[in-house]
Amino acid sequence: MNEKKEQLKKELKEAISQITEMHSLNELKVEYLGKKGKITELSSNLKEMSLDAKKEFGKILNELKEEATSLVEEKRKEIEERLLNKKLESEKIDITLPSKKVRRGSKHPMTRMIEQFEDLFVSMGYTVYEGPEIESDENCFQKLNLPKGHPARDAQDTFYLENEYENFLLRTQTSTAQVRAMEENHEKGPIRIICPGKVYRRDEDATHSHQFMQVEGLVIDENVSMADLKGTLELFCKTILGEKTEVRFRPSFFPFTEPSVEVDVTCFKCGGKGCSLCKQTGWIEVLGAGMVHPNVLTMCGYDPKKYQGFAFGTGIDRFAMFEYGIPDIRTIYGNDIRFLKQFDRKEEQNEVK
Ligand code: DAH
Repeated sequence: MNEKKEQLKKELKEAISQITEMHSLNELKVEYLGKKGKITELSSNLKEMSLDAKKEFGKILNELKEEATSLVEEKRKEIEERLLNKKLESEKIDITLPSKKVRRGSKHPMTRMIEQFEDLFVSMGYTVYEGPEIESDENCFQKLNLPKGHPARDAQDTFYLENEYENFLLRTQTSTAQVRAMEENHEKGPIRIICPGKVYRRDEDATHSHQFMQVEGLVIDENVSMADLKGTLELFCKTILGEKTEVRFRPSFFPFTEPSVEVDVTCFKCGGKGCSLCKQTGWIEVLGAGMVHPNVLTMCGYDPKKYQGFAFGTGIDRFAMFEYGIPDIRTIYGNDIRFLKQFDRKEEQNEVK
């Protein structure tokens, strides 16, 4: 039997050495180790053997099976490795090839400005609130204490929708966020939000565009006073415009606040001496603000005896015009690539050339 074993092994080894493909290896495996394979068939001899002979024969047969199996497996590994190497070779990437140039845009100056505002207010515990640009007359005016026919609407007479939507318009002020935030707060608890966004009016000259951007702020809580309003807005102006900026509050009128103020800062350009930008006054108006009117609180579901609040609104464009020295507001919205390219930041340009 030993002789037979060595002979079969030799035969198998030789056959395997000729093999290069996986399918031939599989065929060879069947030929030797399959149900009717040359090795398997040897076990048919067992029947006629004595017990001792069986033992001896069985042992040798098992050895043969094991050895044959490992020969086949060795070859299998060899073929698999060769196939993998071949695949890796064919998929090799030439990393020295120059990449395709991707032209990447940069942040719009208004986006940069809004991010500055958001960073500041978020650091003071406010959340950023977004409302829709198409708004109902109710949210844009009525619930802000501007009933139909109110003369203060004239300044914002603007883009209404038609037919069955005639009660809707492109919002003229982000103050609509006040109404929405109060109505959506079902617990009628404290609120601290800012709402940056686009607004629309029928203006069009160097400092007015039919579309511009505002940020609205609203704080509602118990024991909120005019002192909170002043402190917050002073901090806001000094953070955005610089520590040296002086801030003054003038009494004013807005239907949704009582009392109302307008906030001026020392001129960005001349620092308060007087120049063409500030019309020789040394001051530039930047914000409208006030204590939320009790009527507004009531219409939006708040009890004015328990809660007070302050609100403010400002045009983001004006800050951007100052920050980036933009003389005409309309360029901000013109999407002229030559204008926008000026705001590419060095570090961003370096990332992708
Ligand atoms: N919505 C006003 C405007 O567009 C700005 C404003 C004034 C907002 C006073 C306020 C405020 O929240 O209290 O002119």
